[in-house]
Amino acid sequence: MTTTHIINGFSKLSRDEKLSWLQKQNKISRQTIETLDAHIHSDTELQDLYSELSENTVSNFYLPFGLSPNFLINGDLKTIPMVIEESSVVAAASHAAKFWAMHGGFLTEVVGTKKAGQVHFTWSGKEKELFQLFRQNRELLLQSVHSITRRMEERGGGIESLEIKPAAGNLSKHFQLFVTFSTANAMGANFINSVLEGLSGALIALIAESSLEGELEIIMSILSNYTPECLVRSTLEGDVGIFQDFDPHLSGRQFAQKFKKAVDIAMHDPYRAVTHNKGIFNGMDAVILATGNDFRAVEACGHAYASRPGQYGSLSEVDISDDTFRFSLQVPMAVGTVGGLTGVHPMAKASLEILGNPSSEELMQVIASAGLANNFSALRSLITTGIQQGHMKMHLGNILRQLKASPEERELAISHFRDQTVSHSKVVNFIDASRDQKQSL
Ligand code: MEV
Repeated sequence: MTTTHIINGFSKLSRDEKLSWLQKQNKISRQTIETLDAHIHSDTELQDLYSELSENTVSNFYLPFGLSPNFLINGDLKTIPMVIEESSVVAAASHAAKFWAMHGGFLTEVVGTKKAGQVHFTWSGKEKELFQLFRQNRELLLQSVHSITRRMEERGGGIESLEIKPAAGNLSKHFQLFVTFSTANAMGANFINSVLEGLSGALIALIAESSLEGELEIIMSILSNYTPECLVRSTLEGDVGIFQDFDPHLSGRQFAQKFKKAVDIAMHDPYRAVTHNKGIFNGMDAVILATGNDFRAVEACGHAYASRPGQYGSLSEVDISDDTFRFSLQVPMAVGTVGGLTGVHPMAKASLEILGNPSSEELMQVIASAGLANNFSALRSLITTGIQQGHMKMHLGNILRQLKASPEERELAISHFRDQTVSHSKVVNFIDASRDQKQSL
């Protein structure tokens, strides 16, 4: 391994110094520098804010910020902000939302809001003595973090339970403090981590002051992003007759039954389930991102939750009884509407305002509904026309941009492909042909 290109103190360099270092490494062209410059915000105050969100910021990376209207959720019509690069997602969400708004909309409920964190440690002494000491001093441990929990308690949250347990698996001499929390309208990661670090310090002090024989080593104190009890459910329900115009070859009942078969496949087959759930996260991540929440945390948890029967499967399910079609999604959702990026990023603040400044529980319900809407649209296409027809239509603009189509060529192509299936090669052929034709004139 060569060390000649290792740079120390990169974060201390100014933006210009960082870019000229990058240029000296022959890593980027002049044109790329111009692209980075062009994406810097002209308002320096705003740019400073964006730059400070992360380390070594040299530009911004824009993604579309779209609106998906007509989400009827528990009787309230909402417009949902979505940030996503995939061209068909907002259209698919909006399409499903509008259809279901005419058929009762989304019925949602928060099943639980409990979050968890762990202090992992090893103890070389006797387990029984350690557990007894913990039980005798449980209140003292809670008191030790009261300065951190007090403000959260005022907002209706705080520590819900504190237990000592052996570690998972057969790790000898490994233990954990397992702590559950409610965090009001905050996602609560910083709060939980601060409490856990406070508790680990208090545990060290408790052992040091006790007469127990043994050594304690704190391994780590960290929240768990697995939040199976911070859970939301969104449901769509209607008579199978509402699907009668979805496909010329399927009655409403046949459509519903085929839809159920598609979901059942995802229940049992991980190859299908990952794609099925990815379609759900298309909608959910877009809202999570737009509202300044942590989509990696929700994704990681959602996929673990989808594996809880012992095999990865669909997050959504379908039931048809007496011609009533019921499609629902139950998914863990640790998000907040205060704290973190939600109060700092101007676009996150704008998203929350568009949603009517929801509580975290309301936001959970909106996000799950967006996921269910995208899942519904994807399955509707998959079992009828196939996915490419709609997908590629939305992607046509991207292909035309890649081909540097003129406004006139764009117009011709959009009109030509209005009733044709789009594929990359068909668009290339169409543009080539129209350019050839123009030259021969
Ligand atoms: C594409 O982003 C998402 C889908 O693949 C989801 C699905 O297959 O259910 C269309």
